[in-house]
Amino acid sequence: MRQQFVAGNWKMHGGLAQNRRLLQDVLVGLAGVSGVEVAVFVPFPYLAQAQAALAGTPVGWGAQTVNEHPQGAYTGEVSVAMLRDFACRYVLVGHSERRAIFGESDAAVAEKFAAALAGGLRPVLCVGETLDQREAGQTAAVVAAQLDAALQRVGVAALANAVVAYEPVWAIGTGRTASPEQAQEVHAAIRAQVAGADAQVAERLQILYGGSMKPQNAAELLAMPDIDGGLIGGASLVANDFLAICRAAVR
Ligand code: 13P
Repeated sequence: MRQQFVAGNWKMHGGLAQNRRLLQDVLVGLAGVSGVEVAVFVPFPYLAQAQAALAGTPVGWGAQTVNEHPQGAYTGEVSVAMLRDFACRYVLVGHSERRAIFGESDAAVAEKFAAALAGGLRPVLCVGETLDQREAGQTAAVVAAQLDAALQRVGVAALANAVVAYEPVWAIGTGRTASPEQAQEVHAAIRAQVAGADAQVAERLQILYGGSMKPQNAAELLAMPDIDGGLIGGASLVANDFLAICRAAVR
């Protein structure tokens, strides 16, 4: 059975004092909890803090995006090797906010995904449709194209070292969650698409749901057969909420 994975995406939130308390509370709350993989995706300046607080604990850490180039004149950007310097295990790529606000195309996301894999990180590839796309009946096609761009770039075998997160854009930060059935339908389609290339990789692939996941709705989402965890935004900033979701994920 696939291990459930609960990850907090802090987005552009936090501060040294606030992070210290949050990480401390999460560690205390997770003591004695096993059977779930847990990580936090923190803003770049707090990677050192995350490393200091979390090294040697069961909680992993990573960044929220990465540049695909190894180094160079890319002002403001951060490379895979830099993330490795802070012992990141993971990195998010293609979050919908990166796609929508910072103009990252499927092709650009695929490059980041490839660079992360090549550098030994475990990338979490985020995919998901907008409300307009869902209402136009394009959900399956949009998600399939986003996944396909990454799959074509790295090949299916590389997906053994990656995670996929389905985050319907209309459910992010809106309080409007996909129903378990809506989410399951897309998760199953993602797994089927991967299975079309390699059934074993598909069977092992962790596919997380993200979009207004909270303690109140986590258990029913996580109970769906193809939902293997959550990518949590707002609720990951509140230790008790994040912990409640982690506990709901224990299998
Ligand atoms: P919310 O949980 O705040 O809706 O955010 C989801 C998300 O974008 C996680 O990456």
